[in-house]
Amino acid sequence: MKLAATWALAALAAQAAGAAISHKLNGFTITEHPDPAKREQLQKYVTWDDKSLFINGERLMLFSGEVHPFRLPVPSLWIDIFQKVKALGFNCVSFYVNWALVEHKPGHYRADGIFDLQPFFDAAQEAGIYLLARPGPYINAEVSGGGFPGWLARVNGTLRTRDEAYLNSTNNYVAHVAATIAKAQITNGGPIILYQPENEYTSACCGVDNFPDGVYMQYVEDQARNAGIVIPLISNDAAPEGHEAPGTGVGAVDIYGHDGYPLGFDCSNPTVWPSGDLPTNYWSLHEQQSPTTPYSIVEFQGGAFDPWGGSGFDNCAELLNNEFVRVFYKNNFSFRVAFMNLYMIFGGTNWGNLGHPGGYTSYDYGAAISESRNITREKYSELKLLGNFMKVTPGYLLTAPGNSTSSTYTSTSDLTVTPLLGSNSSASSFFVVRHSDYSSRDSVEYTLKLPVAGNVSIPQLGGKLTLGGRDLKIHVVNYDVAGTNVLYSTGEIFTWKKTDNGKILVLYGDTGEHHELAVSGASKSSVVEGSSSGITSKKVGSALIIGWDVSTSRRIVQVDDLRIILLDRNSAYNYWVPQLSSNGSVGYSSQETTASSVIVKAGYLVRTASLQGSDLHISADFNATTTVEVIGAPSSAKKIVINNQTLDTTVDKNGILSARVHYKAPKFKFPSLKDLPWKSIDTLPEIQTSYDDSAWTAANHPYTNNSANPIKTPTSLYSTDYGFSTGTFIYRGSFVSAGNETSFAFHTEGGLGYGHSAWINSTFIGSWIGSVFRPGETYVLTIVIDNMGLDENNGPGYEGTKDPRGILDYTLSGRSADAITWKLTGNLGGEDYQDLTRGPLNEGGLYAERQGFHQPEPPSQEWNTSSPFTGVSQAGVQFYSTSFDLDLPKGWDIPLYFDFRNSSSSPAPYRVQLFVNGYQYGKYVSNIGPQTAYPVPEGILNYQGRNWIALTLWAQDQNGAKLGGLDLISTTPVLTALRGVESVDQPKYQKRSGAY
Ligand code: GAL
Repeated sequence: MKLAATWALAALAAQAAGAAISHKLNGFTITEHPDPAKREQLQKYVTWDDKSLFINGERLMLFSGEVHPFRLPVPSLWIDIFQKVKALGFNCVSFYVNWALVEHKPGHYRADGIFDLQPFFDAAQEAGIYLLARPGPYINAEVSGGGFPGWLARVNGTLRTRDEAYLNSTNNYVAHVAATIAKAQITNGGPIILYQPENEYTSACCGVDNFPDGVYMQYVEDQARNAGIVIPLISNDAAPEGHEAPGTGVGAVDIYGHDGYPLGFDCSNPTVWPSGDLPTNYWSLHEQQSPTTPYSIVEFQGGAFDPWGGSGFDNCAELLNNEFVRVFYKNNFSFRVAFMNLYMIFGGTNWGNLGHPGGYTSYDYGAAISESRNITREKYSELKLLGNFMKVTPGYLLTAPGNSTSSTYTSTSDLTVTPLLGSNSSASSFFVVRHSDYSSRDSVEYTLKLPVAGNVSIPQLGGKLTLGGRDLKIHVVNYDVAGTNVLYSTGEIFTWKKTDNGKILVLYGDTGEHHELAVSGASKSSVVEGSSSGITSKKVGSALIIGWDVSTSRRIVQVDDLRIILLDRNSAYNYWVPQLSSNGSVGYSSQETTASSVIVKAGYLVRTASLQGSDLHISADFNATTTVEVIGAPSSAKKIVINNQTLDTTVDKNGILSARVHYKAPKFKFPSLKDLPWKSIDTLPEIQTSYDDSAWTAANHPYTNNSANPIKTPTSLYSTDYGFSTGTFIYRGSFVSAGNETSFAFHTEGGLGYGHSAWINSTFIGSWIGSVFRPGETYVLTIVIDNMGLDENNGPGYEGTKDPRGILDYTLSGRSADAITWKLTGNLGGEDYQDLTRGPLNEGGLYAERQGFHQPEPPSQEWNTSSPFTGVSQAGVQFYSTSFDLDLPKGWDIPLYFDFRNSSSSPAPYRVQLFVNGYQYGKYVSNIGPQTAYPVPEGILNYQGRNWIALTLWAQDQNGAKLGGLDLISTTPVLTALRGVESVDQPKYQKRSGAY
């Protein structure tokens, strides 16, 4: 990517804006930026009016999906995601940056290796995807602390407010991250077009009365501007409430946006759509709240998160399925949404402890692209129909949403129609037809009364239209297809394009439906492919009307120079519209696409197309033997070349090129994990009498730095007071017995789904009976706490990130609390973490983790030979390591999973961490679930080479624990065009100085 001009340019642009006014308010320097209407002075690349954004002067709808680079830590796979998003017809991706991963130690910003954003920007640009940057500082995102590093729990001020201590804590991060983003702005030749400061600054609680605080928001915005951000600032209100919308005073953003999750996050009843959950007032709210900006939904439900013990992501994918796409997303189009970002389009993985306690390792989210980057969910295909339609329909942005009605445009009150009306009778209009009871599963027959040719009733040639259950349709009027006016169409539009000698329009409907379209000024039609049965046509006035019953076999109807391709929905799912380039570079412009795209019928995925001489190169992925057809190729194209292989190509009478790609699943073998030579050590040496904890951190602060949670113990036992915020913690409390102690009670916290185990000396407390204390002797309490991450910080005052982790309180009967002297550990070094490559959160405080044994090539020669399938027979934590080689064929994308099984349906409780080449890629809790299968991407796993895996097995039951099963499994291999997946750095074990 060329980021030719740099900084200087951005700075100049900012200077040129010139009109910024600074003044002091409550001790802060506040800059009021110019009126939005004048923002073109900051830069001329991204502008807007009330209807849409313009990029380089082109009006376009931004259809976007959310992707978090940090949830797929293999940079060479980012292009795969971008190409799969681009293939949907989308043109944008929104991303968060997770502060907790890049400034774990205050003042030390580190964003290299897998945390470097530049390869993400490069991949977006290569795929032709614009970016919305959302670096926070607060992001939420179901990540630990909502993106706040653990040390923010020590900030003496309310988080997300103007409290100076909080604002100061954000300065270093934002200065760095915003400068990195600034360099990749479109103004500097990069892909980033929008910047979102803060996230959901929507509500406050617990005594924060100055809310919303424009001074605070302005500070956050100034941080970005001062770091060189010149593109427009967009907000993300948690609901359409108008916070920070232009015109609301200091702290207002340029473009107002909000989010919406109408079906919520409980996936346990995936077929139930509760009544009243379809948004119907978005447009009227927008007109009240931000009439001068393009209507923007910065996050719209693309799936759902799922907590520990939840119902699993398959259920979420079912709740938020292809029907949800049809009904809810098309409904948003009735509000003339001009920026719509689906959260998430690809969820990814909460590897290495990066998640918050309300989620487990998988962050699949039930999204269109699954965690293993697979696109077989039907919602992906449904979205592709919608994304490609919007891409070729710029006229939509010029309409005005009208009132929804059940009488004006339809024949039945079972349906409700929202018109999007063009500015005059010959301009494009759109009619969004839905069930009045949005969740209805009934099929409803109707006729349409559209304001064309004297308010005719459609279908004009007889028959009825049908809206199936849980469906919603967009009917077009005066739709421009490269100069041909489609007077109306009830069949939905997938795409259209101009060819060398005419035009192509692709329409689809469901089998069993009848449709009709009218072409202005046309006189006759002929069926040039497929059966003409069920197709009628008639000239009415100056238009030619064509009616058809949807059939599963393709029909092509020629009307003058317009070729109309009639498909059923399932067939349409197999079509793709890559832009044709001569040099492999994809580009961005939608206008360009309609002139230079090709329509490809293939199967699983088409990524790119380019014409080189008479060779039509297509890069595509296959999961079955497939006939590839290319429709609308330039007449110079003679041969189809798929993934650099020239195929026997035929051309039919209609100029459609076709060739066949053979798929034969490769044979490969996986090791049986059970039969590998496992080596093992006890990773809880702390409970042995000989254990020396002199190198541990003394938990000796008689105060806490946690301003939201006073301590109840003589010294603070909050982990973040001592720099520990990730993974397992271990506490050791020693006391000299007075002989009269009879009980020890304690209260710990590790977040939702956490667990703890405790020992006195070597005795597991769960199995301890009666007093064993001898006066004058020293006893050591060891408490292991599974920390599931820090809580999110939902708004000013909630202070969730400060919810303490560790021991909150304890009593030792007969003694005062200070009889116990505490020490603790978490990951080795705490905020001075050891593993700069895998980042600050990846390892916790178990002995084997502190030593670095979870990495490749641990010093296991002297360890016991024992396996996690045999396990342990008493409470404790055992560590296992082994290695195996993979030799998977190149040119295949083979999704791999580690699949855990229990030996019985109610196993003794245990907790496992799975490390793959040193990356913690799974946390399994036998008695909570729901996750049992853990996808691990290529790049973390070495597909051609050695892999080291390690497990920590924490038996919480006195009788120990063992794995019922653990297998490496794959799903259907995909023959892929994706090349060059590189393994990320996997530093191997090296003796760590100072490790204890
Ligand atoms: C939004 C928030 C996101 C994410 C989402 C739920 O409100 O902005 O960061 O938490 O909810 O997945």
